[in-house]
Amino acid sequence: MKRIGVLTSGGDSPGMNAAVRSVVRCGLDRGLEVYGIYRGYEGLLDAELKQMDRGDVGDILQRGGTILKTARSKRFRTEEGIKRAMNVLNTFDIDGLVVIGGDGSMRGGLELSKRGIPVMGIPGTIDNDLAYTDYTIGFDTAVTTVLDAISKLRDTSSAHERVVIVEVMGRRCGDIALYAGLTGGAEEVLVPELPYDIKALSRRIIESANRGKQHHIIIKAEGVDISTAELAHDIQENTGRETKEVVLSYLQRGGSPTMRDRLLATLCGSKAVELLAQESASKAIGTVDGRIFAEDLGDALKETRELNEDLYSLIGVLSK
Ligand code: F6P
Repeated sequence: MKRIGVLTSGGDSPGMNAAVRSVVRCGLDRGLEVYGIYRGYEGLLDAELKQMDRGDVGDILQRGGTILKTARSKRFRTEEGIKRAMNVLNTFDIDGLVVIGGDGSMRGGLELSKRGIPVMGIPGTIDNDLAYTDYTIGFDTAVTTVLDAISKLRDTSSAHERVVIVEVMGRRCGDIALYAGLTGGAEEVLVPELPYDIKALSRRIIESANRGKQHHIIIKAEGVDISTAELAHDIQENTGRETKEVVLSYLQRGGSPTMRDRLLATLCGSKAVELLAQESASKAIGTVDGRIFAEDLGDALKETRELNEDLYSLIGVLSK
């Protein structure tokens, strides 16, 4: 193993830069040449590669976004695209690849791996929707951003005695909503994994107002099958309480990564390089029970993430 490539792909997440820095510097430390591939698989198809030195990844540890840029590539998802990507990797004599991204990006890596190149997947997504790892890089920062929004919204909602619905990201995964709801003291959390009952929800809002609660904060994951505006309208109709909605959207994807995200990114980057240097088969790298862990890439992607229902029940207990 002489030369490795690294790319970031899919939605960016805070901590991706920390992972790139770790891959580049750990790679150089092991005597490898490291190539940065720009704009994810799109840039791979267009052969946008640059050899990286230590200085290229200076002053990025604390930055959100990704210096390598990112993209969602339709072209790559075809047989022709994958063949072309392999040709580019062969032309540049890349012997191993590190893919930093979410589920779709890792699946792309798996396709390349099936064609003979070892691929190390590093979980970079705010969604926390990969089953094989307890946490993904960017999740902690995104939840911290949501917590900041919740505290501000609690002030104004209490002042006006309003209900507020905060829509958070996560695709089909409710983890951002779950963790932000639990640690932000939300009254309700709606996630795509569990059904909700609008009548029961409305009753709880009325009852808690009768008990003297001044606000009612509902965290709704984007994957729940009702639009946030429609939900706000229905709640206002059912309860007679003024209901506002806030969609946090891309705010959750930016910002300086927290210590936890920087640490996870740094350790995953180091592990990816270690495995490539050992000429290991393709792996998905993550964290389980606080330790860095690597599992066969194909096996890791077969698992389905389940919502932690114990945490979910605790929200009901704490928010009464
Ligand atoms: O996967 C990360 C994520 O931010 C999801 O939470 C969200 O559904 C999606 O990306 C948005 O994607 P895009 O940046 O393409 O609009």
